[in-house]
This record gives sequence, structure tokens and C-alpha cells, in this order.
Amino acid sequence: MSRIVAVSAVAALMLPIAGPVLASDVDELRERADSLFGTVEAIDPEDIEDPVAQLGQALFWDMRLSSNGEVACASCHYRENWGSDSRVRSINARGGETLQSQTVFHAMDTPGLRWLADRESGKAQAMGSITGSMGFDSQEDILPVLAEHGYDERFAAAFPDQDDPVTPENYGLALEVYQSTLRTTAPYDAWLQGEDDALSEEQMRGLEAYIEVGCAGCHAGPLFGGEMLQPFGITEAYWEHTGSAEIHSGLMQVTGEEEDRFYFRVPILRNIANTYPYFHDGSVEDLRRANEVMARVQLGRDLEDELLDEITAFLEGLTGEIPENFEPPEGIPFELPEGISPG
Ligand code: HEC
Ligand code: HEC
Repeated sequence: MSRIVAVSAVAALMLPIAGPVLASDVDELRERADSLFGTVEAIDPEDIEDPVAQLGQALFWDMRLSSNGEVACASCHYRENWGSDSRVRSINARGGETLQSQTVFHAMDTPGLRWLADRESGKAQAMGSITGSMGFDSQEDILPVLAEHGYDERFAAAFPDQDDPVTPENYGLALEVYQSTLRTTAPYDAWLQGEDDALSEEQMRGLEAYIEVGCAGCHAGPLFGGEMLQPFGITEAYWEHTGSAEIHSGLMQVTGEEEDRFYFRVPILRNIANTYPYFHDGSVEDLRRANEVMARVQLGRDLEDELLDEITAFLEGLTGEIPENFEPPEGIPFELPEGISPG
């Protein structure tokens, strides 16, 4: 994913005066939203039945498939937080702390994964997790653990043409295919397709404000983000507003290049109301406050209370339903990490 330096020119536009939204304005707003963002498709139930996706679902929720036998992908990407982790930092299978976990919902639809867009596909991300979050010393070390828990048959069913299907590549592929089914349409999508009542008047004003204020300059496309890297803190240092204890230098931490300082992938805002806390370090707990920080440090603007309420209300209209196959399949052991209560 390329770094796009120029932020679309953000004009200091007059914002709409609160009041009822006229039908002609709604149509115009819908056209603008369609061209800036568009919509996402609901998942086809047949894709959930795909044996590769079914294997991926088991792999995702099975706690036994980690070096300490206690960490599944779902330990940091669970239902209660819409596919992400409500802890500020997650704890991996080595007992180490990670960055704030992002949601896996819709993640497969982005060109670069993670806060730094440093994984090019779901398969690469999952294979990297074997020696990362799952705590194994090498990718091959997960193979005997898979065999021990009866995964030979599941891999054979998913990859019937292969003689020796239990490989790290197929592990990664199955997880990618499963996560590709984790899509969820929201009231916004229904509204875009013509259902006027799917968004409230406040939410429609919030959508308009989101565009006018300049959020859409970065958080655009059908996922409202996920398409580019941008600096965090354009007009002011981010940590002065987030209160972050540690300062992360963004992409520079990986490349060592000064020009990459503070570049992070613009996050997906679908389901954002339920994937708290916010930012790469989980430094902000509340969505309204996160939006206030964004306006301040990205756009140099202090948003009035009403505008902040409206934008926040609009973002709540991006919350879909939890996909029905986002749960442990029968016979697969999964428990939430300590301190997280089932919701
Ligand atoms: C210990 C917690 C933990 C575990 C276990 C874990 N993850 Fe994650 N996951 C994270 C964190 C933290 C991030 C963000 C990491 C970063 O950007 O550096 C992340 C990022 C991701 C992303 C990128 C999302 C996006 O929007 O780009 C995907 C996809 C993902 N994880 C899938 C998985 C899969 C599949 C597994 C199991 C093989 C897994 N995770 C295991 C914590 C975890
Ligand atoms: C110049 C690009 C840019 C603009 C403009 C921008 N953002 Fe962001 N936004 C980002 C980046 C980059 C991050 C990730 C920061 C980090 O590392 O945590 C982010 C993070 C967020 C988050 C936290 C997401 C998460 O998963 O934790 C929210 C919410 C958000 N932005 C909302 C908004 C809103 C609302 C506006 C308009 C007021 C806006 N943004 C304007 C680039 C931008």
C-alpha cells in the first residue's frame, strides 16, 4: 500500500444548520456517499459452508493451537468486542503485550493489514501469527499440535486433492478464507440502498459533517478506511491529546526512514462503536472522544459539541450484526481471556 501524503484539501466550509433534512437533500447526500464510500455486500451463506472456511473457523477459535495451549486467534478477536479486544493491550501466548487488537471483521477486504499495513494478505498475517501471537518458535512447530488434536481429517476434507495438506500455508489460507466471510452490513448500507429510515436525521447530519469536516479525506471507501497510510498527528503531536504513555513512531519503526515517522494505516471505521478502546495503543476509551482527538490532531479543528454528537451518531450507523459463524464450532474449546465477561 502506498503512502499518500496529500490529504484532500479540507476547506473550512459552513456546516449545515441543525433542522429537518429535506427529501431532495437526502437524495443528494446519498449520491455523495455513494461516490465517496459505496457499500459492502452481505455474505453469501454458501461461502460459510465452504470446507476451507469451516476449517478456518475451527483454527480461529481453538485455544489448544498455541504454544501454551491457552490462546486462540479469538482470544484477542472475540464476539464481545466485535472481533477485536477490549483490553488496551492483548496478551500473547508468551505472556507478552501487543498493540491494541483490531477487528477481523472486513479486514480481508483491505490491501494491507495491521496498524502499519505490513502484512499483505490474511494468509500472510495468519502464518506470521504462528511465531507471533501464538508463541511457537517456528511455523513448523504448530504441525504436531494440529496432528495431536485431530486436524489431519479436517485439513484432508478442506484440501482433498493434496497428499500432505497439513502445512503452515494451508493453515494461513484456511484462516484467510474463514475471515473473508466475516462481513456485516450496517444501517448505513440499508440507507444507501434507499431505506430512508435506516439512519436518523442526526445520523444523516453526521454523515454530511463527516464529509464536510474532512474525515472522508482519509477514512473513505466502503470500509470507511483501510485504504492508505497517513501520519497520526498532522497539526499537533497526537500524544498530547491521547495521553499515550509511550510514543510509537509508526511505519518508521519498521523501515527506519524518517519520512515514515508517525505513519499508520487509516483504520476501518465499520463497527467502530463496538471495537473500543481506540488508536494503536488503546489510549482513548470513548468513541466521541476519539473523534474529537481526530478533528484536533488531523484537521486542526475543535469541533462543536453538536457536530461531535452527530458524527459519533453517524459512526454508530456503521455497526452491523455479528456474523453468525463468528463463534466456536461444536467441539472446539474456547474460553474468553481472564477478566472479560461474556456479553
Ligand atoms: C495476543 C493477541 C492476538 C492473537 C492471539 C491474535 N491476534 Fe490478530 N491482532 C492482534 C493485534 C494486537 C493486532 C494488531 C497488530 C499490529 O498491527 O501490529 C492484530 C491484527 C490482526 C489482523 C489485522 C486486522 C486489520 O484490520 O488489519 C488480522 C486479520 C488478525 N489479527 C487475525 C488474527 C488471526 C487469524 C489470528 C490467529 C492465527 C490472530 N489474529 C491472533 C492481536 C492478536
Ligand atoms: C489525515 C488523515 C485522517 C483524517 C483527516 C482523519 N483520520 Fe481518523 N485516523 C487516521 C489515522 C492514521 C488513524 C490511526 C491512528 C493510530 O495510529 O492509532 C485514525 C484513527 C481514527 C479512529 C480510531 C480507530 C481505531 O480503530 O481505533 C477513529 C474513530 C477516527 N480515526 C475517526 C476519525 C474522524 C471522525 C475524523 C474526522 C473528524 C477523522 N478520523 C479524520 C487518519 C485520519
